Amino acid sequence: RGQQPLKGKRVVVTAGPTHEPIDPVRYIANRSSGRQGYAIAAMLETLGAEVHLVSGPTALPDLVGVHMTRVETAREMQAAVAAALPADAAIMVAAVADWRVEAMGQKIKKGSTGAPALTLVENPDILAGIGHHPSRPRLVIGFAAETENLLVNAQSKLARKGADLIVANDVSGDVMGGANNRVRLVSKDGVEDWPEMTKREVAWRLAHLVAEKLAGSEKP
Ligand code: C5P
Repeated sequence: RGQQPLKGKRVVVTAGPTHEPIDPVRYIANRSSGRQGYAIAAMLETLGAEVHLVSGPTALPDLVGVHMTRVETAREMQAAVAAALPADAAIMVAAVADWRVEAMGQKIKKGSTGAPALTLVENPDILAGIGHHPSRPRLVIGFAAETENLLVNAQSKLARKGADLIVANDVSGDVMGGANNRVRLVSKDGVEDWPEMTKREVAWRLAHLVAEKLAGSEKP
């Protein structure tokens, strides 16, 4: 192994979608493979960090050398993230479902009453909770998957969620589930465009950026 600039640093990463049950056999979910988040977690580990990956349901295998917590719902993800604190950095990559369903205890039957109506309840915002937490990690990074007004949305997200950096990606193409990603980094210092590259390369660059920001003694 080469340089380990993140040795002794603890990082919490979320990845994947969340599944919100409708009834015991059905759920609503987001279209996320978990690939970008897993790649970031793996790269942070390679750079020496103690990585706690809180993952929603994915088809990806556990990462060797990473503390894995598998969850289903946003509320479970929030609890697992809180349990992993304190940390030096938090990188919230998960595509958390914004709403959960007021779930039915029994399987909904097809019947003569027509289609059932689902009542949606807002889920907690895990990133905003971390960004404003009493034991906030020194570095908090969020993602923003947008299909329009990428920059404006990312900028407002920075403030609202208490993040140091928002990695904005345009998901109007085939980013979700694909191998490549094209991101723009939005912080209080401005915007940095990265060219299209593989998710692994995005992870490599981001992990090194985390190492750089945690190396200094002041707030990144
Ligand atoms: O508001 P939006 O969903 O676009 O924000 C995306 C960012 O916020 C991502 O970093 C995502 O992981 C995080 N998020 C979260 N909890 C939510 C919704 C989003 O942590 N309930």
